[in-house]
Amino acid sequence: MGNDVRGPGSGVRGPDNRESVLADLREQLLLDQDFGLEFLDPQAVLPTSRGRSHSPEPTPEPPPIIVPARPRTPDPGPRTGGDPPPSPLPASELTSIAAQVAACRACGLCQTRTNTVPGEGNPAAELVFVGEGPGADEDVQGRPFVGAAGELLTAMIQAMGFRREDVYIANVVKCRPPGNRTPESGEVAACLPYLNRQLLAIRPKIIVALGNTPLRALTGDDKLGITAQRGKMLDWRGIPLLPTFHPAYLLRNPPAKKPCWEDLKAVVKFLGRELPKRGG
Ligand code: URA
Ligand code: SF4
Repeated sequence: MGNDVRGPGSGVRGPDNRESVLADLREQLLLDQDFGLEFLDPQAVLPTSRGRSHSPEPTPEPPPIIVPARPRTPDPGPRTGGDPPPSPLPASELTSIAAQVAACRACGLCQTRTNTVPGEGNPAAELVFVGEGPGADEDVQGRPFVGAAGELLTAMIQAMGFRREDVYIANVVKCRPPGNRTPESGEVAACLPYLNRQLLAIRPKIIVALGNTPLRALTGDDKLGITAQRGKMLDWRGIPLLPTFHPAYLLRNPPAKKPCWEDLKAVVKFLGRELPKRGG
């Protein structure tokens, strides 16, 4: 909006960029190993399943067994006659949102995108991750979190005991901001209804906001900062919302992995699950 959205390099990586991508990937391998080490840490994965004494995580209320399994709406089958359609199943609502996003021209980001990146994952996910917006790799593939930060996010998801396809992964804006700049407030405002509808369709048990952009967008409070808010159980329309650091930030700032992992362990605990046992 306002700004000319055409970035200087028109999205093509120069040699410098390629170098930094390689550096990122090298660093990321180390980070994956670090996340892997968590599995081996007896403090992190206690052999006894109950009464974990190790919990510095700021879980506000010890959640008693939470929400029973989500009711599975049976497929209503083909309908005849003129009665109103049933409220859409999550999967079809998500498909419909993706189609609307693909045709969307509600903000200036539509002018520079290669592909829209609506989000992907399990329509019945109990856990949703929300990032900021597509980067270069996501713009090319039309899929969220497939670059270096995405590989780290995938490792984080697996460290929590999920497969990537078990959860849902989305972003605040569905088109890439040129040069990976932070999306402007007008762009966020234009795109947020799609994310809101995705979250309403999925109705996860918990939402993890990755960094400042989803934290601010989902709370509606632009004054909040991730460093102060991470690890707190906030609320999005009755669904717990837990902010933590964005994986791209973790790539630049490895010491932040530790508090982030504490946050993710709190999510696992909130969901009443055990961390996967590895290496022992
Ligand atoms: N960073 C994000 O915030 N989202 C993506 O999809 C990829 C990188
Ligand atoms: Fe539409 Fe969102 Fe893309 Fe803007 S970023 S054009 S609001 S889909």
